[in-house]
Amino acid sequence: MPTVSQRTAELGTENAFVVLAEVNALARQGKDIISFCIGQPDFHTPVNIQDAAVKAIRDGRHGYTPSAGINELREAAAQYMGSMRGLKIAADDVVIGGGAKPFIAYTILTTTDAGKGDEVIYPNPGFPIYESQILACGAVPVPLALRESRNFAFDPAELETRITPRTKLLILNSPHNPTGGILTKRDLEDIAAVMRKHPDIWIYADEIYSRLCYEGEFSSIASLPGMYERTIISDGASKTWAMTGWRIGFASNPILAPQFIRWVTNTDSCASHISQWAAVEAINGPQTDAEAMRKSFLSRRDLIVGLLNKVPGVTCKTPGGAFYAWPNITAACQMIGAKDSEEFRKRLLNEAGVAVLADIHFGSRVAGEGQHIRFSYVASNQAIEAGVARMAQFITANARRAA
Ligand SMILES: Cc1ncc(COP(=O)(O)O)c(C=O)c1O
Repeated sequence: MPTVSQRTAELGTENAFVVLAEVNALARQGKDIISFCIGQPDFHTPVNIQDAAVKAIRDGRHGYTPSAGINELREAAAQYMGSMRGLKIAADDVVIGGGAKPFIAYTILTTTDAGKGDEVIYPNPGFPIYESQILACGAVPVPLALRESRNFAFDPAELETRITPRTKLLILNSPHNPTGGILTKRDLEDIAAVMRKHPDIWIYADEIYSRLCYEGEFSSIASLPGMYERTIISDGASKTWAMTGWRIGFASNPILAPQFIRWVTNTDSCASHISQWAAVEAINGPQTDAEAMRKSFLSRRDLIVGLLNKVPGVTCKTPGGAFYAWPNITAACQMIGAKDSEEFRKRLLNEAGVAVLADIHFGSRVAGEGQHIRFSYVASNQAIEAGVARMAQFITANARRAA
């Protein structure tokens, strides 16, 4: 029998999709599940954006586009990304992709060589695709611990200790999946100070949640002196305009854009032509719906964090962005006799019908940081109230039994 490559056999995944399959299987058996697993807005794409896509189809704009994307979208995205970050970005430096996700692989492929020991530093916990793509591309993953005591930012001194002559790329993600943490301007200045000592390392700034910031202004490392040329800014349409399935991301870098274009030609040819016209409207059209969605996430954040902090054995920091809460459940695990967050998650799903993800779905657990689970709070207020109430009941009942 032919076999699959070692690279494929060992390829990681995004466990949200694995847990979602578990949840769907239970739902098919008639179990009543409240799910907090999936990280996508629970709104319809705004109607003006839908209309732009329909118009594109009717106008016959459904063939291939240049791999870099249509000029109208490159220009709109350049202006959009630049104005949010106080930068002047040229349309030629922007590449449109099938979501922001492909740029993770394109960046690692463009900045590291397979099997040569090239290292990539990335946040842990973090979006699981960073680690799986670093490994699949034949580079060496170097996780950098995020600390609850620092509101899930990492310690710049710790970053410095991870840098070696083999480091090629640093991945940053703010606002952050899964903790909801943000890197403040101060954090970014500290990181930039470290990076100035190491001018040969690229920075990938995953800023897909840039418009979902709840505390102060969004800041990007690319805005700081000397950082723009070496930073790949990654943003997109998925989270801001409820467009996850439309698959539109934009990345910008003045040096690497031509390389990314070649990668797009070698993989997708181009992002969906229809979705590109929709994204032009998303950026240039009215922002009322995007702002209403942001406000709705903010109010749900306050609801879930308030409720979680009343649950026995649970503490939850207030996340500054995205739509994730990352409660510490170390005490709750002890109370119910669960050995770790994964056992807690499975029991919570099977016994109480509440679906969440565990910290191990976002990298290896950080020593000394305890046990965490992730709630994606893109659910109705009712679902949030009922889900957290079920969790509280589950912990109280099992704690009594364990005692
Ligand atoms: C941190 C992070 N980066 C990138 C992505 C990918 O977004 P897109 O839908 O634009 O591919 C996600 C999606 O969940 C994410 O959480």
